[in-house]
Amino acid sequence: MPAPDGRKPVVVVDNVHVEYRVHAAGRRAAGTGRTLLSRARGLRTVHALKGVSFTAYENESIGVIGSNGSGKSTLMRTLVGLTPPSQGAVYASSRPNLLGVGAALIPDLSGEKNIMLGGLALGFEKSETDGLRDEIVGCAELEEFIDLPMRTYSSGMQARLKFAIAAAKQHEILIVDEALAVGDQRFRQRSEARIREIRENAGTVFLVSHSMKSILDTCSRVIWINRGELEMDGDPREVVDAYKESRK
Ligand SMILES: Nc1ncnc2c1ncn2[C@@H]1O[C@H](COP(=O)(O)OP(=O)(O)O)[C@@H](O)[C@H]1O
Ligand SMILES: [Mg+2]
Repeated sequence: MPAPDGRKPVVVVDNVHVEYRVHAAGRRAAGTGRTLLSRARGLRTVHALKGVSFTAYENESIGVIGSNGSGKSTLMRTLVGLTPPSQGAVYASSRPNLLGVGAALIPDLSGEKNIMLGGLALGFEKSETDGLRDEIVGCAELEEFIDLPMRTYSSGMQARLKFAIAAAKQHEILIVDEALAVGDQRFRQRSEARIREIRENAGTVFLVSHSMKSILDTCSRVIWINRGELEMDGDPREVVDAYKESRK
């Protein structure tokens, strides 16, 4: 169903619950001095999302905030289909991409070769990746290092390379989970600009970040997840202020 102003919905999250079943560590049995597995208490359920619902529209850039362990990453993994809901459902007009080509990259290969691999992993033709090479290297600021094996890069350099490869593509629905936390300020500004560009080209972006500045500079709407529930959803300034207030 379109919004009252005619915008097209691209993702509908309908009453999503996620429960993780985890094996708790063995407990020391009292008095015996030996470590025994307490089988009765072995399996624990973590209710990470408790009935989250919202609709995302095209051209929105949605900030996702909340304290550690509140369920942000779980929600993002549910959107891309990596974590199935135990109840409820996610409907999307096209498959959302979780920013990251990390799995496709090989540390022993050069940055240059990894751009090719990452491009192929994103579904580019070889010629398309060739055409994007300079833009990716520039965005990652790795001009002098692009011939060196990726394992020689600092974690910040590796993260910049991964962001630059993934962001070279125009995504319809792009999810960025904490990827901006690693770079320096200049890189952060450039990646924020790229996120705005993707959004302007009719994409929808979800940005999970602990930087309220990134969220306010980039997002048109903010969702606050608190202990697995949608605490607030709306104007960035209002939601960020309420979140900050709750942490005082
Ligand atoms: N793979 C998993 N197995 C078990 N529990 C998990 C798993 N992933 C996350 N959790 C738990 O789910 C809750 C939400 O985690 P997460 O979605 O990572 O929160 P956030 O991204 O907001 O920090 C936490 O209690 C966390 O410990
Ligand atoms: Mg997380």
